[in-house]
Amino acid sequence: MVLFQRYLLRNLVLQGRRHLGLPRPGKESSTPAWASDKARSPPSRSGSLGYSTSSGIAGVKERTLIAVKPDGVQRRLVGQIVQRFEQRGFRLVGLKMLKASDDLLSQHYHDLSKKPFYPNLLRYMSSGPVVVMVWEGHNVVRTSRMMVGNTNPAEAHAGTIRGDFSIHISRNVVHASDSVEGAQREIQLWFSRKELTDWDCCDHSSTYQV
Ligand code: TYD
Repeated sequence: MVLFQRYLLRNLVLQGRRHLGLPRPGKESSTPAWASDKARSPPSRSGSLGYSTSSGIAGVKERTLIAVKPDGVQRRLVGQIVQRFEQRGFRLVGLKMLKASDDLLSQHYHDLSKKPFYPNLLRYMSSGPVVVMVWEGHNVVRTSRMMVGNTNPAEAHAGTIRGDFSIHISRNVVHASDSVEGAQREIQLWFSRKELTDWDCCDHSSTYQV
């Protein structure tokens, strides 16, 4: 009888753990939940430039670098581009306008330095001011790449920024980081820590399940 009671009690506990999404005792995974999503990076220090779980929702604090390139600024597209990220639900945590130096641009595009288009790319990117921004939110890196569209505007879908505002690859209006790691590197390159503002958005519970 005692054994049967123990058996019932154990099953009740296991059911409760399953209900809460917890693993069976002794089956705890060595892989943390955040590691299951490739688009996310490991948790970093609270208040860092990257990912944090301080809000309790995995990936909510993912950040990316978006830049309106000189052609976008010249064509007065900054407002419309900012609006797209705002209305999607992302949170702006940094924004500034500057004329990027050759040094900064060569660090930013160092992976492309051997490409034939690299000299033209640097000339164009330093031809006028850019507006650089840091946006934050769940899966922001992947989602913003979708919002920006294909590198070649001829391949970019209508509804994407490049698909709506550009026609040639050499003038594709906007930059978006292509990975979480890349975003962290680029954010640190373009922004100092004190230029980024952590703030609470009042519509948080309307945007995320809390
Ligand atoms: P890349 O990092 O490949 O694309 P993306 O900006 O979508 O991440 O290239 C960087 C920029 O280089 C791209 O936005 C426009 C320019 N570029 C050219 O001018 N010609 C090209 O053939 C390519 C591939 C890129």
